[in-house]
Amino acid sequence: MKIIVANWKMNGTVDYINDYFDKFLSNVKIVDSEVIFAVPYVFLEHIKKIVKNQNIKIFAQNCSHEENGAFTGEISASMLSSMGIDGSIVGHCERRKYGENYEIINKKIKILTKHNLRSIICIGEDDKEHKEEILEEQLEKCLYGIENYKNMILAYEPVWSIGKNHNLDLEEIDNSIAIIRGIVEKLKFEELKILYGGSVNKNNVREISAKLNINGVLVGRDSLDPMNFSQIVNFLE
Ligand code: PGA
Repeated sequence: MKIIVANWKMNGTVDYINDYFDKFLSNVKIVDSEVIFAVPYVFLEHIKKIVKNQNIKIFAQNCSHEENGAFTGEISASMLSSMGIDGSIVGHCERRKYGENYEIINKKIKILTKHNLRSIICIGEDDKEHKEEILEEQLEKCLYGIENYKNMILAYEPVWSIGKNHNLDLEEIDNSIAIIRGIVEKLKFEELKILYGGSVNKNNVREISAKLNINGVLVGRDSLDPMNFSQIVNFLE
């Protein structure tokens, strides 16, 4: 069973969403895999109403590490849970850029788990030379003090491969996935599902899935096109 995540980032309008799901749902065949749409908060409820497929889950793209209180503009795990949302991405590098660190990401994972929500945890280095140390530090910090990881998915997204148009360095990425599998095993998270994210598209998904030892993919730009994204899902299905 593959997990295929669409990260819409800050994109979409109500009209776009209606049109998107008309096209996506009539083109996609999902039997065995799980498809997750991580969408802007304001559209969560609307999308939940129009998507009735059991194999499609709706996630947020972030949540607060605090329970509730004076945090203007933040959204809590309990709010997401009360709306019937399935989980959230945490620690995307586009948020780490604004100061979110792995101590905070660890708190986010714990608070999501407390509210029975799932988390997609993003890790990935920006500096290839120190890859191994960086990945080890990120994993140790974000998994610190966590025992039950059944609600967690890891997404390896090397910062240097996100939002690019050139060919992916699959040798390098394959080596990183092996390093990550070694670290999670050492930390006793050996069953943790691992996705790859960063410039995945309908043209390279075949090569990616043939080459990498992964449980699925996380797609940014190409998930915004319903025809392209349905092709990716149908291929991995
Ligand atoms: P991309 O984005 O597929 O557009 O590179 C992936 C991501 O940032 O999650």
